[in-house]
Amino acid sequence: MALLSAFALTGCAAAPESVLNPAGPVAQMQLSYMYLSFWIMAAIFLVVAGVLVVAVIRFRERRGQERELPPQVEGNTALEVVWTIVPILLLAILGVVTVAGSFTLARLAPSSRALVVQVTGHQYWWAYTYPSLGITTANDLHIPVGEKVDLELTSKDVMHAFWVPRLGGKTDLVPGRTNYMWIEADRPGVYTGQCAEFCGTGHADMRLVVEAQTPAQFQAWVQSMKHPSSVPASGLARQGYLDFKTAGCFACHAIAGTPYQGVVGPNLTNLAQRPMIAGNILRNTPANLAAWLRNPPGVKPGALMPNLHLSPSQVRALVAYLESLH
Ligand code: CUA
Repeated sequence: MALLSAFALTGCAAAPESVLNPAGPVAQMQLSYMYLSFWIMAAIFLVVAGVLVVAVIRFRERRGQERELPPQVEGNTALEVVWTIVPILLLAILGVVTVAGSFTLARLAPSSRALVVQVTGHQYWWAYTYPSLGITTANDLHIPVGEKVDLELTSKDVMHAFWVPRLGGKTDLVPGRTNYMWIEADRPGVYTGQCAEFCGTGHADMRLVVEAQTPAQFQAWVQSMKHPSSVPASGLARQGYLDFKTAGCFACHAIAGTPYQGVVGPNLTNLAQRPMIAGNILRNTPANLAAWLRNPPGVKPGALMPNLHLSPSQVRALVAYLESLH
């Protein structure tokens, strides 16, 4: 029953973060290993449980039977050999398959044309740089459907782990070194995930969003990132553009197409296009953005963006500006 309910609870096709619902070849391959080990273990379980049930029924004490010890036996060479060799074989099968698979997945994609994305973990957000495209963004990873994407993963501070279950297993982001993995999405969609290595107070609020787009949509996004309109000419958004400097935002944040080039916090180019803000914990709405600007650590405990004690008019102008970036 436990086994059945485990399947019933986790096998739901709508589950957005289920490894049982892969959306690309890497996750599919890893799922096949899970099934391989599951069925091997299920077979062992059935044999052991079957023998146990037979023994319990066949050798149970019967009415009128004299209570005496059955003949005592010790050691059976044939059995000893069998139950040593069978587990060795099973472990060898699992070992060869999973080690070979790990080596296949922990290097660059088997394609020289794969798109490269440098992924940097920060407390508590994700930076994405596309060196071949000259684009940097944060928290919202765009990939083209049907193409292999090489991820080069590192960290600016402590260890994090990149985990988007429907696209692939976890890979750690370690300060001072680069780990590799590749992913590919079979079909368009938004795939979510979670930092999977405890990294501090904001760990649970370090969410992942991957937008897999058709090649045409992806190219349109690339063009919008390369040529953003980031300097409003007039109105409240213009005031927000100016406040971005006077309030000090520019010291940490970059916006392509402006003089603002801070690298401590997330790059905010085309922020209004992103579905989520604040490490992907809040939907990107003007009200949420205003709440965030008023007191970041109040919204997201452990956030390293300080409360800048912005005035209500500054918050209004900055929200107007940031929501104009698309
Ligand atoms: Cu980053 Cu947990």
